[in-house]
Amino acid sequence: MFMSVKSRILQELRSHSAVLSGEQLSAMLGVSRVSVWKHIHKLKALGYEIRIFANGYQLINSPDVIYPWEFPNRESNFIYHPEVPSTMDIAKQLARKQCPEFTVVIAERQTRGRGRLNREWLSDAGGLYFTMVLRPQIPLLFSSRINFLASLTLTHILREMLQIEAMVKWPNDILVNGRKISGMLSELETEADRILFINIGIGINVNNDPTRAEPTASSLKLIAGKEISRKELLSRFLDKFEYQMKHADFDAIISEWKNVAVTLNRHVRIVTNTGESQGIAVDVDENGALVLKLRDGSYKKVVYGDCFHQG
Ligand code: BTN
Repeated sequence: MFMSVKSRILQELRSHSAVLSGEQLSAMLGVSRVSVWKHIHKLKALGYEIRIFANGYQLINSPDVIYPWEFPNRESNFIYHPEVPSTMDIAKQLARKQCPEFTVVIAERQTRGRGRLNREWLSDAGGLYFTMVLRPQIPLLFSSRINFLASLTLTHILREMLQIEAMVKWPNDILVNGRKISGMLSELETEADRILFINIGIGINVNNDPTRAEPTASSLKLIAGKEISRKELLSRFLDKFEYQMKHADFDAIISEWKNVAVTLNRHVRIVTNTGESQGIAVDVDENGALVLKLRDGSYKKVVYGDCFHQG
């Protein structure tokens, strides 16, 4: 497993609460003392509180940052940018160039963050904005289950980590107290019937405040009343989702998703690129399509769109 010098310095400083000398660090890492010194100064410039004593270094505090070296188990496949138009575009280019599965592209801010149906996704500093490149070996028909697995996993992580009642709204929004705190967008490329990649982009309102522009949205900080560690949330989500991609029972995903859904048995309006439908959301089928009961008593399946609860 590749680990950068920064990652290894932080690992050693974190596991030794006492002062570590430049000589010890240089011997542990197999790099020169000058190299240790340079990296320590770079880390300080990046916001790490490191005390420098005559006899060595001590880590006092780490900022809540999402630099690749904070994710040692996935550092080489973790593409970090302070600002990009959209992580979706970068992930697509990388996926087309055969980047490894589970490459994660992440940005502190996006200037042209995209939501479903070509809407804008506000991406101010403080949120999490990332796209994962996946290459599942599953039939194309089942591909949408991956999105449902992602929203289900994130819902469970939010519940465990923050003790909040996170719920999913069809297709893959996450709401808390009826307010949207996360949305997902996926892009897929195929060759004949084979999935080449599915890129899942996730935006989570963590410590940002989206309410001025989006009154129906909220953020985890506003809900919990305190700053939330983006690093911990992201790391817990990525680890659990990657595990679930390998081990989950794909036939059970939709029924588990329904257990935490707010959309069923409600009157909804579904907006798609081509029009809109209204009815009662009676079910979600095995591949994630929403089953609507229309006013005339007939049923209609919707595979894609935006869902508005009508009461
Ligand atoms: C939605 O709810 O409409 C989907 C929002 C998806 C936003 C994420 S943020 C990371 C990735 N990059 C984007 O431009 N969009 C997705």
